[in-house]
Amino acid sequence: MEFSIKSGSPEKQRSGCVVVGIFENRRLTLPAELLDNASSGFVSEIVRRGDMNGKSGTSLLLHNVPGTSSERVLLVGLGKEKDFREKDFCAAIRLSVKALAETGTQDATLFITELAVRKRDTAWRIRQSAIAAIDASYRFDHYKTKQDELRRPLRKLTLIVERRNELSIAEEALQQGIAIAEGCTLARDLGNLPPNICHPEYLAQQARELATEFKLECEILERADMEKLGMNALLAVARGAHQPPKLVVLHYKGGKNSAKPVVLIGKGVTFDTGGISLKPAAEMDEMKYDMCGAAAVLGTMKAVARMALPINLTIIVPATENMPDGNATRPGDIVESMSGQTIEILNTDAEGRLILCDALTYAERFQPERVIDVATLTGACVVALGHVASGLFANKDGLARDLIEAGEESGDRAWHMPLWDEYQELLKSPFADMGNIGGRWGGAITAACFLSRFSKKFDWAHIDIAGTAWKSGADKGATGRPIPLLTHYLLQHAGKID
Ligand code: BES
Ligand code: MN
Ligand code: ZN
Repeated sequence: MEFSIKSGSPEKQRSGCVVVGIFENRRLTLPAELLDNASSGFVSEIVRRGDMNGKSGTSLLLHNVPGTSSERVLLVGLGKEKDFREKDFCAAIRLSVKALAETGTQDATLFITELAVRKRDTAWRIRQSAIAAIDASYRFDHYKTKQDELRRPLRKLTLIVERRNELSIAEEALQQGIAIAEGCTLARDLGNLPPNICHPEYLAQQARELATEFKLECEILERADMEKLGMNALLAVARGAHQPPKLVVLHYKGGKNSAKPVVLIGKGVTFDTGGISLKPAAEMDEMKYDMCGAAAVLGTMKAVARMALPINLTIIVPATENMPDGNATRPGDIVESMSGQTIEILNTDAEGRLILCDALTYAERFQPERVIDVATLTGACVVALGHVASGLFANKDGLARDLIEAGEESGDRAWHMPLWDEYQELLKSPFADMGNIGGRWGGAITAACFLSRFSKKFDWAHIDIAGTAWKSGADKGATGRPIPLLTHYLLQHAGKID
């Protein structure tokens, strides 16, 4: 989709469709009022008759509105004016794009983008609009052999800002939004790809392609390299798999040479059967999404490189399948992690923490300013927070605060969870330094406690995205979360947003 920014009045737009908002209780937004004046009351008459009542989630398409230059007008319900917040704004953009897709138009002009949203500025509105519009028009139909030939996709969206002096700020925000959305699209594609295609080598290949496109430094560690480094926790997970494991590293250097990098680590289990601690059959296909952490850090890297942010960023993706096999790790096996700490593997389905712990130790060599890992780590996190918020853990409160705020501002929320010592107790093992599970209760927390033991040398945060990285049901698919949170955080870190 092509985007542009403009300011102007709705009745004068030569466009396939002009999109304006209507609040509940027949309150026309300013652009709707301008259309109404130009058309001698055409719009208000429709609203008066009750064909558009302004409720959120509703829309009405009008053709040949008198006195206007566009072919169509789309009225979009915004809900109650006094309750209009960030999420209502984004929902209105998404609804507009979905409704436009049902029409014959291939270009449209959105006046929703000039609506005031409390506490948010023009840059925010434009950035979020681009992200929401691209997200709402996303489709994954690579494997459908019959394409919908009648569909006319939306090709061009013009986003309106109120004043001409906002154009340059809006243009920069638009480019940021497009970059972030492209990162999300990459992550969603990787998540949605079937596990017979998207295996560890496929993720490595994606990294190589990003490296070529954006001139990044790329290292890919093979099994033999991991053996030399003593990454026995990661290797224990890979034992049962026929697909070889990979540890993928990408470096982006946009900042000063002396600036320490931010390191992002993404769990890349391209299929999680549970291993010998085999998962039940129902919905096991969804364990293809167990590499969504990896997808998110690759997508974040793509967005950051596209925005050319003045920071140094490194991403690490430990990638493997978790399979049962005659050679697979058994419950009860003890391994020595790269850090030297020993682990009794009591449940082979708690594999994410095993690959992450060696990746965390590997991160030390980059002398990171801070490390953030992203993982579909625990079903317990879904029990705790549902599909709304990601679980956030950190060994520095300031870092947690910044990430929570980035989540709030990007509409990709996370909730701060505790990492108290009392929970560490639960990881005790009679035979090794620790077990890899902490028992029945507080599973998201004990998993984070496990990781914290490998994160003592730097400021560290862990984001459990088990409930947020994908959706089940009718609109099943990867969401691209938490890329909006991470990119917002990095934009702030780069001084591009205050
Ligand atoms: N990938 C799963 C976590 C998961 C489960 C994410 C369901 C989304 C939905 C992870 O590897 C796992 O299996 N975790 C176990 C840990 C347990 C054995 C301590 C879990 O959550 O059941
Ligand atoms: Mn598992
Ligand atoms: Zn897993």
